[in-house]
Amino acid sequence: MTEDYSPPTSEWYHPTEDIVEHANVPDYEAVYAEAQDDLEAFWAKRANTLEWHKMWDKVLDDSNAPFYKWFVGAKTNIVHNALDRHTKTWRRNKLAFIWEGENGDKVTMSYWRLWQEGNKFANVLRSMGVKKGDRVTIYMGRVPEIIIAMLACAKIGAPHSVVYGGFSDQALADRIADAQSRVLVTADGAWLRGKIVRLKDVVDEAVRRSPVVDTVIVVKRTGHDINMEQGRDYWYHDLMALPIASRYCETEVMDAEDPLFILYTSGTTGKPKGVLHTHGGYQVYTSTTLEWAFDIKDDDRWWCAADPGWITGHSYIVYAPLILGATSIIYEGAPNFPYPDRWWRIVEEYGVTILYTAPTAIRGLMRFGDAWANRHDLSSLRLLGSVGEPINPEAWRWYHRVIGREECPIIDTWWQTETGGFMICPLPSVGLKPGSATRPFPGISVDIINDEGKSCEPGEDGNLVIQGPWPSMLRTVWGDDQRFLDQYWSKYKEQGWYLAGDTARRDADGYYWIIGRNDDVIKVSGYRLGTAEVESALVSHETVAEAAVIAVPDELRGNVIHAYCILVNGVDGSKELEAELKNHVGDEVGPIAKPSVINFVEKLPKTRSGKIMRRILKAEAQGLPVGDTSTLEE
Ligand code: WTA
Repeated sequence: MTEDYSPPTSEWYHPTEDIVEHANVPDYEAVYAEAQDDLEAFWAKRANTLEWHKMWDKVLDDSNAPFYKWFVGAKTNIVHNALDRHTKTWRRNKLAFIWEGENGDKVTMSYWRLWQEGNKFANVLRSMGVKKGDRVTIYMGRVPEIIIAMLACAKIGAPHSVVYGGFSDQALADRIADAQSRVLVTADGAWLRGKIVRLKDVVDEAVRRSPVVDTVIVVKRTGHDINMEQGRDYWYHDLMALPIASRYCETEVMDAEDPLFILYTSGTTGKPKGVLHTHGGYQVYTSTTLEWAFDIKDDDRWWCAADPGWITGHSYIVYAPLILGATSIIYEGAPNFPYPDRWWRIVEEYGVTILYTAPTAIRGLMRFGDAWANRHDLSSLRLLGSVGEPINPEAWRWYHRVIGREECPIIDTWWQTETGGFMICPLPSVGLKPGSATRPFPGISVDIINDEGKSCEPGEDGNLVIQGPWPSMLRTVWGDDQRFLDQYWSKYKEQGWYLAGDTARRDADGYYWIIGRNDDVIKVSGYRLGTAEVESALVSHETVAEAAVIAVPDELRGNVIHAYCILVNGVDGSKELEAELKNHVGDEVGPIAKPSVINFVEKLPKTRSGKIMRRILKAEAQGLPVGDTSTLEE
């Protein structure tokens, strides 16, 4: 799909006067200029909207770039800002979230109650020997306890590593091993499309492969029979009922630069890459971006429909909305279960005012036609959002017309796990063009660089770079500073620019259009996967000698994966083997990583130095010209 993005259009959507007048930031240009004028003063002012145990000595320390430090010398804890402080104001009794299970279960939680649950679980973790700095892995579905567990970890200064509940045992085992977590928090299962996802089975196998885990805490969600290992596995509800789970818990006072979490994401090698974020800068940046881009007000009902297991959930389900004291909607299951109007029913029932989701979900719901949405009163909505991949103008227009009554601005947010928060996105007062993430957020400078290392002309495609540090930038790759340098900072080392890994273009109005990834990352339905992860899963099968995978544009999912496999001597390709290999990848990585097509080939196009030329495979798969093949081996 990405290759089809229409060039910049002149189709403008301007916000109504009402939106501009009531926006938290009515004048983007003025605020952008203010930040450019004095970046440190700008971020200091934003940081001052939060509470700190000790103020910073210096806003930004760039003496060891790109290992930047923010709010140096400050003491804080993000949970103090997300929960503790609210319990002393009227927000004590405000709803932090309204949760709906796929099976119709409901839980609502006030700030006071969430604070108590977080405290209780923090005490449980402490009693299990978890100390400041220890990593805790969390693997479960979209249930209230995942949020409680994340906050409890942060409260006691134990970095959490949340692994998305759709990942396989091997992927989970790799992430446990890399983070060296002793404690794992999980659930018996999760509901998805009316079926139980057997999470605990996956955990048992992952822990067998990564025996560093000695304690597993299990939330009872689905209630089916599971294996509970004596001395290792404990029920969450049993622990929370013990006297040790007191409802008061001292919040650990952290350095602004102390680790808050590790979140694994896909990169160029098969080894998982733990992106590290910290307490201080992250809280400032995520709360500012949510407050300004989505214009959060006290009476809003914010629904970020992502999963807490991804960065979107970390930043915009858990931390930023709580810091702002917002009320969130959280829904456990599939958008089309039991019927394609499940989401629209939720919007109507809870009076959702802002909905933030991914293009793949929009395209999926669009396919069912307008009638499902039209039978619900969606008039509570005032803003819509998009994230994860480029939104094609057709889906944009449908979202705007059918869901947004042609009134709701669409906030298309470009960002990454590494950036922590939105980097390119409109504020509600900014004019929109369908398919463009518009302009950089205040405090952010971006450019597009061509092969000659020069800034691109309007309409010219190039490498998207971020020029200069921002508070929620990743601090490093967990345990691998060199990888951090190589991956993000080596290409434009002299200039000190951050390489995003995306191709983009800018139009004559200065609007940015993201084309897609230009490295070994593939976005399938907005999920981020590495070609190396899928390829190593394929070659781990006894029949596969060598494999290459590529992204091929797809109407619904943005991209799908096509694989090319060379089989070992004596094995022939067949339909059965194709199916087996697809399932094998599903087992090794997760269902989202399954290739949609597997081609059995004799040879793969390689450079003389042995690098697979995926560009050639891609061109072939799409019937496009193959281009320059001068470096091809033969
Ligand atoms: C892509 C998700 C176009 C992009 C928050 C980026 C987007 C990668 C957009 C990061 C968008 C994300 N328009 N492309 N609005 N948002 N992307 O780490 O390729 O899962 O580099 O973070 O998603 O994916 P990640």
